[in-house]
Amino acid sequence: ESKSASLKHKIVVCRDLGKEAMSLLYSSDHEIVAWEKDSPPPRKWVLENVQGASGICVMMVDKVDESLLDAAGPSLKVVSTFSVGYDHFDMAAVRARNIRVGYTPNVLNDAVADIAVLLVLMTMRRIGEAIQIVQEGRWPETPWSPFLLTGPALTKPSLTIGFLGFGRISHCTLERLLAFTQPRKSAHAPRCIYTSSRVRSNQQEIDNEYTEQFGIATRRVEVDVLARESDILIILCSLNKDTKGMVNEAFLEKMKSDAVLINVARGPIVDSTALATALENGHLCGAGLDVIDGEPNIPRDHPLVLNPRCVVLPHVGSASDMSRTGMAKLCKQQVYA
Ligand code: DGY
Repeated sequence: ESKSASLKHKIVVCRDLGKEAMSLLYSSDHEIVAWEKDSPPPRKWVLENVQGASGICVMMVDKVDESLLDAAGPSLKVVSTFSVGYDHFDMAAVRARNIRVGYTPNVLNDAVADIAVLLVLMTMRRIGEAIQIVQEGRWPETPWSPFLLTGPALTKPSLTIGFLGFGRISHCTLERLLAFTQPRKSAHAPRCIYTSSRVRSNQQEIDNEYTEQFGIATRRVEVDVLARESDILIILCSLNKDTKGMVNEAFLEKMKSDAVLINVARGPIVDSTALATALENGHLCGAGLDVIDGEPNIPRDHPLVLNPRCVVLPHVGSASDMSRTGMAKLCKQQVYA
């Protein structure tokens, strides 16, 4: 009997998951077919290789749709993604075939929360513009002056911190931000408002628990209230048909002119054209985007890249060594049927 015939299952891995996870995979008694590069595999390679697989490890850019599931065939039991988001899955098709979905929650909470806070600080203190002055050699004609590059302060009395989506990463982000604000128990303590897609009968009880947990008044609000009242508005919800384009012209118009908008979730939640217009018209103090609609095909003359009030990062929220290693291990663990 050949070695491959004695192996239990076929597992297809669509990227190099790093030394540790890859060597664990190879030391298993499964047949491993891996695209061990840093760039995505051609779709053709994926469709050819998944045939007869019982598990597949994918990345955010690999669409998990009917064509992939059909190519794999009835042997497929689980698709595991190296991400916490799984908006690249056609969930109806996955459910119809009774296929399990693996993803990587928790291990990236701290890394993404760090980036959210970094973008809050960068936008409120206008650090994108400040860096540009130095890098473009404009410091000599832009010397220190009393109100050069001043922006809103995190210690603003009764600051309102808003979250579009209030899951684990939002909680970690809020905890971090509270180190920069007025003290929790003070007269001018900040407050937190958030939206959630889940309708719960015991909402008041849940908000009381959050208020206790974070030490500041915390309550669920409607989307309109979130837009209108937030000084800092952080997008941390999943992308789905309801949230796609939710932050549009009407939403942005409601926001305070000294508020900042941060997106560390998925690009298509924000309408980029509307955001660029809002920033140009001074409807908003600034925007910090770790994700942007159309990524990674964002040219350097994209209106949001050109806007000095906007900080655009190339989707690096979870990019700490520890979090990516944790994601690789989890992705590997979950691929076994
Ligand atoms: C995720 O995990 O969904 C991030 O966007 C990539 O780290």
